[in-house]
Formats: sequence, structure tokens, C-alpha cells
Amino acid sequence: MATALRPSLFEDVPLRASAAARGMVYGCATSTFQLRDADFAAALVREAAIIVPEYEMKRGVIEPAPGRYDFSGADALAAFARGHGLQLRGHPLVWHKRNPDWLDDDALADGDESLLTGYIETVMSRYRGRIHSWDVVNEAIAPGEPGDLRRTVWLKRFGPSYIDLAFHAARSADPKALLVYNDWGCELGAPDNDRFRAATLAFLESALARRVPIDALGLQGHLGLQGPQVDQRKLRDFLGHVQTMGLRILVTEHDVDDSGGSPDIAARDQAVADASRRFLDVALDNRATIAVLTWGLSDRYLDRPDWRRLPLDANLKRKPMWRAMSAAFSA
Ligand code: XIL
Repeated sequence: MATALRPSLFEDVPLRASAAARGMVYGCATSTFQLRDADFAAALVREAAIIVPEYEMKRGVIEPAPGRYDFSGADALAAFARGHGLQLRGHPLVWHKRNPDWLDDDALADGDESLLTGYIETVMSRYRGRIHSWDVVNEAIAPGEPGDLRRTVWLKRFGPSYIDLAFHAARSADPKALLVYNDWGCELGAPDNDRFRAATLAFLESALARRVPIDALGLQGHLGLQGPQVDQRKLRDFLGHVQTMGLRILVTEHDVDDSGGSPDIAARDQAVADASRRFLDVALDNRATIAVLTWGLSDRYLDRPDWRRLPLDANLKRKPMWRAMSAAFSA
């Protein structure tokens, strides 16, 4: 009888509870649009203890015209989080994508730092003391480029120190929020990923040596059934180095692209679950890992109805990925 019982023991425990039992926080990206769906909102509040806006805190949304701010979406998500006792992440303050059209090369031509630091101050002070962690800089690393830094308008106008500027501005804007450097590229086992890990470690080491206030590394965690897979040894070693630097680790945008998977849905769902488990077993095994967020909770809002990338299906039913995550938290 006991053996038969074991797996279902966790069946009824929401992910937020299994994560909490392990001293971690589980949550997901969502949007004001999704939260208008009462069934979905109920499933989210049941499963997640922290949320992050999928797009409502991106600069293109927040500052559509110079100095004209629209916090309506971000405020609504912050109010939802507060109303349901959820924590809230901020994402992203400095990125090369989803910026408003006016924030182009010309706008930054005179190197006016307030277009970087002033924005950070304005946005962070609005949510001061209410944010678990901010992705201060997102996707700045590009192995092989000069200084292994992505050629963005920020790099062009302010040089590599735009990253230092951003983190120092963030620290003074909200001393309580964990400041995160967020990126993809360190999860998988291909040679490109080896270079990405090496570039990321060098970037973090030199930034910390310059006393740039980075508190944590955000691993986006976008995986796929096709192409390179997670190499558990390489990932474990990498996270060990990050931990040794005294940094926390967050999985910030986990999902598994099921494109190219088996046409048999059960087999494809199981492959997605296995890929997620292989990744989480390593990430959760590192004591510096404090949070896991999936980039959404349910397949219901994915761009294509046949995509199955998240813990709950389009009918909000728990999938093998949910069980794999539950088992990983409970292992
Ligand atoms: C994506 C959103 O999911 C899309 O809806 C939007 O069109 C583009 O941005 N890395 C990130 C996220 O840091 O903000 C991105 O989110 C996905 C990749």
C-alpha cells in the first residue's frame, strides 16, 4: 500500500508549497490580460507564490513617449500580487529589446545618463519595498563580441560601464530589492554554451571586483526538445562557480519548447517533463538557488494552440511537466 501511495502524495501539493518546503519560491510570468480569466487566476494563486510581468514592465510599455509613463499594467499586476499575498519580480529595466521607438540612437546621442539612471530611479521608486528582485540588466552578454558584450544602443552610447551605472542606480533606488543580472545561454551543453558560461563567469567576476552591486544571476531556463540539451555536469560546475562568488541564483523564465517533439502528445509531454527535470535537478541542488519561475503557467496563452511548454495544459490540468517540477522540488 505505502509504495502505491508515494507518488500521489505530492499530487495535491501545489508547486508553491513543494518549493516552499525546500526553502524556495515558485512562481510564473503572467499578464493583466491573463488575470482577467478567473479560472486561470485561481490556478495561478493556487500554484504560484511570486509573479513577474511578461511585458507590462518593459520600457516600451512603461515609457511610450519621453517622460510620459504608463504604469497601469504594472500597477495592476502589483495590486494583484499584493491582494493575493504573492511576491512580485520586476523585469527588465535595461534591455536591447521592447524599448520605445523614440529611445533610439539619436535620443541617446548626447550620452545623457539620466535616460538610463533616471528611468531606473523613476520605475524602481514607484515599487520600492514591494519587489522581491529586479532584472536590472537583461541579455547583455554576447560571447565573441568585443568584451563579450552585446552591441546594444546602451553599449554604444555609454560603453561597458552602462551596466555598472544601471546596478548602482538600482541599488540606491531600492536597497531592499535583490538585483539580478538575467540572461539565457548558460543552460545547455553545446560549445556555444561553454563560451557563454565562460563569458558570464568572467563578466560576473570583473563586475563584482569593481563592486558593482549584483546580488544574483538569473538563468532564463528556456529549454527545447530539439538541439542542444542540458549537460548536467557542466551546468552543476557553472552554478558552483556562481555560488562561490556569493551570488544567489534564480531560474527566471523556465519553459520547454516542444517543437519537433513526438506527434504523440503523451510522449511529447513526457519528453518536456524529462527535460525540465534534468535542468531543475541541477539548479535546485545548488543551495544558492532561491527561486524558480516558469515563463507562464498554462499552455492556454501560448502563441500557438498546439504548443505544450508549461506546467498546466490549456484546460489548466496538471501535466507531466508539473509532476516533474513537483518531484524535483520534493526530491
Ligand atoms: C518575451 C515575451 O514572452 C513575448 O510575449 C514578447 O513578445 C517578447 O518578450 N527573454 C526575456 C523575456 O527576458 O522578456 C522575453 O519575453 C523572452 C526572452
